[in-house]
Amino acid sequence: MKSSTQVFKIGTGNLEEVIKTAAQFIKKGGTVAFPTETVYGLGADALNPDAVRKIFKAKGRPLDNPLIVHIADQEQLGMVAMEVPDSAHVLMDAFWPGPLTMIFKRKNIVPDVTTCGLDTVAIRMPDNPIALGLIKEAGTPIAAPSANISGRPSPTTAEHVIADLSGRIDVVIDGGAVRVGVESTVLDMTPEIPVLLRPGRVSIDEIREYVGKVLVGYTDRQAGAGEAVRSPGMKYTHYSPETRLVLVSGNSSAVVDKISELAREYRDRNIRVGLLVTDETAGTEEMAEYLLADGVFLLGSRYDAYEIASNLFAGLRYLDLEDVDVIIADGSIGIDGIGAAVINRLKKAADELIEVN
Ligand code: TXA
Ligand code: MG
Repeated sequence: MKSSTQVFKIGTGNLEEVIKTAAQFIKKGGTVAFPTETVYGLGADALNPDAVRKIFKAKGRPLDNPLIVHIADQEQLGMVAMEVPDSAHVLMDAFWPGPLTMIFKRKNIVPDVTTCGLDTVAIRMPDNPIALGLIKEAGTPIAAPSANISGRPSPTTAEHVIADLSGRIDVVIDGGAVRVGVESTVLDMTPEIPVLLRPGRVSIDEIREYVGKVLVGYTDRQAGAGEAVRSPGMKYTHYSPETRLVLVSGNSSAVVDKISELAREYRDRNIRVGLLVTDETAGTEEMAEYLLADGVFLLGSRYDAYEIASNLFAGLRYLDLEDVDVIIADGSIGIDGIGAAVINRLKKAADELIEVN
C-alpha cells in the first residue's frame, strides 16, 4: 500500500511538466489518476500486468471486472485490438476522441489481468488534453477505470479522487471538474449488430444515425446472482452513497407530490432527510417547507440532462457527507440523450425505487 500520494494541480503553463512527471510514474509501473471528459480515471500501463494489478488493489475492484484501455492514436488501437469492423471506423470518425468505448477482439499483447481473461478488450480515446498528453508521453495505452473505491459514485473532481484513494495511489493530476460527469457509453462491436452495454454521453440514437441497428444489452438494475451478463460490470453495485437512497421517478407532478409526502413522513418520524432534486422540483410550493431539510443538493434543470449529468455524482457525494439518514432523489428527468445514462446511474445507485404516475 502506498503511503503518500502526490497531487499535481494543472495551472497556467505547467501542463507539459506535470504530464512529463506523471508519465514517468506510468512508465515505471505506477498508478496515476487523471481527468478525462467523463469522469476521473485511475490509470496504469495497460500492457504491464503488475501495474494493472495495482489498480484493482487500490479500488478494491472485483478481479473479474475488466478495464477500459485508453489510447491516444490509431497506432495504439492496432497494437491492442483486432477484427475492427468498418462500422467501428465510422463511429471513431464521428465520436473519437470522445465518450464512446468500443469492444473488440483483443490482441495477445494485452495481459489477462487487464481484460480479466476475456478475449475482448474495451477501448476508448478520451477527449481531454491531459489524458491524451499522458498517454502519448507514457508511450503506452493506459488502462483506467473510474478513480473511485469500487461501488462508490464516480469522481468528477480531483477532491473526490483524493477522498477515496489518497495513500493508495502514486499520483493525482488535478485538472478541475470534468465536463460530462457520467462515464462513457460502452458498445460491443464484436457481434454483427453492435450491442449497447452501458448508456453514456453518446446516446443510442446518435450511434444509430451512423451504423443503423443497435441492440440494447443493459438493464437499469443490478443483475441478480448467477444471472448471465454481457459486461461483468453489470453484476456489481454501483455509484452508491453509503446513505440509503430512495429514487422517485415518473411524471414530474406525481414525483413532486411523492417526494413531498415522503419528506413529511420522514420528518414526522425524526428521520433526517437529504434531497437530491431538480431546480423545478425545488421551486414548487409543495417543496418549499422541506428545502430547509438537513441537506439539499440542486441537480439543475430537469429539461437539461447534460447539466444534471455533470452534477449527479457530486450531489451523491455531497449528501453522503451531510448528516442525513436517507436521501430522496428526484427522477423526473427525461431519458432522451444523456438522460438515459442519468436515470441508469440513479437506478443503480438506489436502494429503493418508487415509480409514480
Ligand atoms: O468514461 C469512462 O468510461 C471512464 C473513464 C475513466 O474513461 N471509465 C470507466 O471505467 O467508467 P469503469 O471501469 O468504471 O467501467 C468500465 C465498464 C465496466 O462496466 C466493465 O465491466 C466494462 O466497461 N468492460 C470493460 N471491458 C469489457 C469487455 N471486454 N467486455 C465487456 N465489458 C467490458
Ligand atoms: Mg466505475
